[in-house]
Order: sequence, then structure tokens, then C-alpha cells
Amino acid sequence: MLRRDLVLTAGALALASMGASSGAAAQETVKIGLILPMTGQQASTGKQVDAAVKLYVAQHGTTVAGKKIEVILKDDTSVPDVAKRLAQELVVNDKVAVLAGMGLTPIALAVAPIATQAKVPEIVMVAGTSTITEASPFVVRTSFTLAQSSVPMAEWAFKNGIKKVVTLVSDYGPGIDAEKSFSEKFKADGGTIVENLRVPLRGPDFSPVLQKVADAKPDALFVFVPSGAGAQFVKQFVERGLDKSGVKLIATGDVIDDDLLNGMGDVVIGVINAHNYSTYHQSPTNKAYVEAFKKANNGMRPNFLSVSGYDGMHLIYEALKKTNGSTDGEKLVAAMKGMAWESPRGPISIDPETRDIVQNIYIRKVEKVDGELYNVEFATIPNVKDPVKAAKKK
Ligand code: PHB
Repeated sequence: MLRRDLVLTAGALALASMGASSGAAAQETVKIGLILPMTGQQASTGKQVDAAVKLYVAQHGTTVAGKKIEVILKDDTSVPDVAKRLAQELVVNDKVAVLAGMGLTPIALAVAPIATQAKVPEIVMVAGTSTITEASPFVVRTSFTLAQSSVPMAEWAFKNGIKKVVTLVSDYGPGIDAEKSFSEKFKADGGTIVENLRVPLRGPDFSPVLQKVADAKPDALFVFVPSGAGAQFVKQFVERGLDKSGVKLIATGDVIDDDLLNGMGDVVIGVINAHNYSTYHQSPTNKAYVEAFKKANNGMRPNFLSVSGYDGMHLIYEALKKTNGSTDGEKLVAAMKGMAWESPRGPISIDPETRDIVQNIYIRKVEKVDGELYNVEFATIPNVKDPVKAAKKK
């Protein structure tokens, strides 16, 4: 070997050992970068997930596998470019071991290349477009996909005498997944899709499309809008008189969100919808969760997104235990694959092949119980994998 090479090798070794020792010191604190929409159109999402993350930490402590946990919350204001910049800063400046949150599909997708580059797990606690888990091998999802709820909704509708449907969705990733998966299943079962209507994600006006629904007179209108937008939709549905027109309203649970349900009023009593979580889910785990969440948040009801955030924290804590506190991104993702546990929503697991969530989907009906509106579950489809990815595999 030339002398120059020897010097270089020694230098590289010194650098590597420096890196290793400073890495070990930095690992004493495990930082989690939580990127959420705390302001803007999706602010209710940020509020729910943040509250659940805080509750999980309060209940489970800030020490895991000998390491101190620190959550750094950043407000992406519901803007993907802002989320991307925040993710970069969290990785480069704060040296976070995990990125989490992702309140909208475009945000989860904007952050994915950073997760890949930095080899940092991206725990998706909200966004529901099927393809997100394919955007990076470091994405692991604790929320849901829209096909998970839309396919069972289509199946229930056809079995229960609904033959003609108009669909109405927000015009972006999860809406298009909901529209496609509902329509394909409903048509395969023998139903007719009269029309597929879409509204913009930002500031939607439902009046023009609701006029089309009134003219088409389907047996039912199937709707997806993201969490937080359902109240505005229901208000315009009623203003147009559609609640009295004989057109049944069916939906994914995002529309009939537990968070907004009481404010929607008695007009939504009887609405059938499909989803992964109800505040009213009858299990001891959920009863304890709802009670603790309300106590910590001035009586605020936990919704499905809070549960995804809570489960996301469980996933991170348990993965760290399995790696004995190592924050190596590949090891953490490997530890997450196949993990199974009892969530407030019921039994869940992470599909080891797709890193996507496997969960029960419940068919629910809005009912008034003790003076409050709830989604009361009456049928369960167990262990549903993302139908879009399942179909691709075939
Ligand atoms: C999404 O942007 O993927 C999203 C957000 C809120 C929902 C569902 C999907 O309720």
C-alpha cells in the first residue's frame, strides 16, 4: 500500500470511530419529528393526533430501552412544501430518528424521498392513499387506506337493496381511491354507478354537485371527504333538501367523523358508513382510551385520527424495545413489520410485506345514545388488508 493510502485509511478510520462515538452520544435521546397540520384547513387533524401522542407519552413515560424520548412537534400548515422543508430540518439539524404525522396524502408523499435518503422511518398516522407505502421502503402506516372502508361499504350497499349510486369525493389521492374501489366493487356485485362526481380538496362548494345528485335520483350517494370537511358537506346536503329526497347517504367514516358528529345534528341519524374506529367501539381498551383522552383534553372526543397517532407511538416504542434502543432506520422498520397489538379500534397489525396496516372494518349506523350522536357498529369485516395492493398482487 502506498503511504498516502495508509494515511487516508487511518483518517477514514478515525472519522468512522468519531462518527460512531458521537452517534452513540446522540442516541441517548431518541427524537421523533412530528409533522402535523396544526393550522389551516386540516387543523382538527393536527389537534387530534397531537393530543393522542401526548397521551401516549404521558401514559408510557419518556424512557424506552434506556433512551429518552423527545417529540418535536412542527406545524406544516397543511402545505406539502412546508412539510418537506420541516422534514429536512428535523433530519439534518435535530437528527430525529423517526418522522411521524403526515396529515394529508400530498404531505406524506413530499416527505417520503427524505425518509428514503436519510434512512429514517416515516410513520404515516393520517394519510390514506394506497400508494403512499410504495413511495419509500421507510414508510410504515398506522392509519388506513380508503379502499379498506370503501370496498366493504359497496358490498353492504348492494346486499341491502341499493342498486344505483352516485359517488362524490374530494379530488385527490384518497378520494380517487375511494371512488375507484367503491365503484369497481359495486359494479362487480351487479350495481350501477350513475355518475362519479369530484370536488376540490381546498374550499369545496358542494352545491353544484348536489344539484346533479338531485337530478340523477340515485338510490344512494356515496361520499368521501377528508376528516374535518364532513360538517360542511352535511350542511349543504340538508340545505339542498337531499335528506328528504329519498337519496340515502352512505360514506366512509371520514365524513361522519366522531369529532364533528354532535355538531352535525339529528339529520345524520341513520346514516350508514364504514370505518376502522368509532368512539363508541365497545371494548375495555377503547373505553379506557376514550376516558383518558377526554380527561386530558377538556372532554374532547377522540376520533379515528387520534387512534392512528396513539398506535403510531405504540409502534415506535415497541420497535425501539425490539432493537434494544438502536435507532438504525432499517432495524426499526424490520422490527415494525408484522407487529400486532390490541388498539382502541380493535386488533391491528403491520403487514410485513407492504408495511401497511391490517385492521377490522366496521359497518356503523349513526344513532343517538344518552343524548349524543355516535357511530354504532353493527357488522365487522375482520383483518382487512389494503384491497388495492391485494389486487395488484394477483
Ligand atoms: C389523506 O389526505 O390521505 C386523508 C386525510 C384525511 C382523511 C383521509 C385521507 O380523513
